[in-house]
Amino acid sequence: MKQNVALTTALAPVSVVMVSCGDMENSDIVTIAWAGTVNSDPPMLSVSVRRSRYSYELIKKTGEFVVNLIDASLVGVCDGCGVVSGRNVDKFKKFSLTKQASEKIGAPAVAECPLSMECVVRETVELPTHVMFVAEIVNVRASEEWLSDGKLAIPEGEPVAYVQNRYVATGKTLGTYGYTAKK
Ligand SMILES: Cc1cc2nc3c(=O)[nH]c(=O)nc-3n(C[C@H](O)[C@H](O)[C@H](O)COP(=O)(O)O)c2cc1C
Repeated sequence: MKQNVALTTALAPVSVVMVSCGDMENSDIVTIAWAGTVNSDPPMLSVSVRRSRYSYELIKKTGEFVVNLIDASLVGVCDGCGVVSGRNVDKFKKFSLTKQASEKIGAPAVAECPLSMECVVRETVELPTHVMFVAEIVNVRASEEWLSDGKLAIPEGEPVAYVQNRYVATGKTLGTYGYTAKK
């Protein structure tokens, strides 16, 4: 038997990502769990950011950001980027992260993250608590560990995901897309 619980956004697991924004001089990194895939062609995603965030100001100003996926080694810095504001501190310096110039946009990527998606904002949706930036992915870069024959191949157990308030390793493969229709 199920019972009613307090209204909540219970979708889980969700991605937990480090979003870098600004430019090579003045930048920020914000941890975001309210992110999602929204279109295939062109590839598009959304991130929902509260208006109070410093990163919100930078994204609104530049219309660009980079979504960096994390592996297990980056859970601590990802959490750290989600509890201090870039208004008071340079998070690249504080967490010993490397600012990496993007190829297609001015916002820097986080070099230590295994995958970085360079994004350009196409639509801004004003919601009650958050602003949802709907963005086109204009370039994707992956580290060697996440590549196989030049193609993206995310290792089993990665990337780290988020369930309620827990960072979790994604589990073992239970099936693959459309496997029930294959002989
Ligand atoms: C796991 C986790 C997930 C978070 N998800 C979001 C989110 O989706 N949207 C948001 O606005 N803030 C989110 N936050 C909070 C921001 O990351 C946090 O307020 C951060 O310090 C803001 O930094 P900034 O002022 O430099 O932008 C999250 C924090 C954590 C730890």
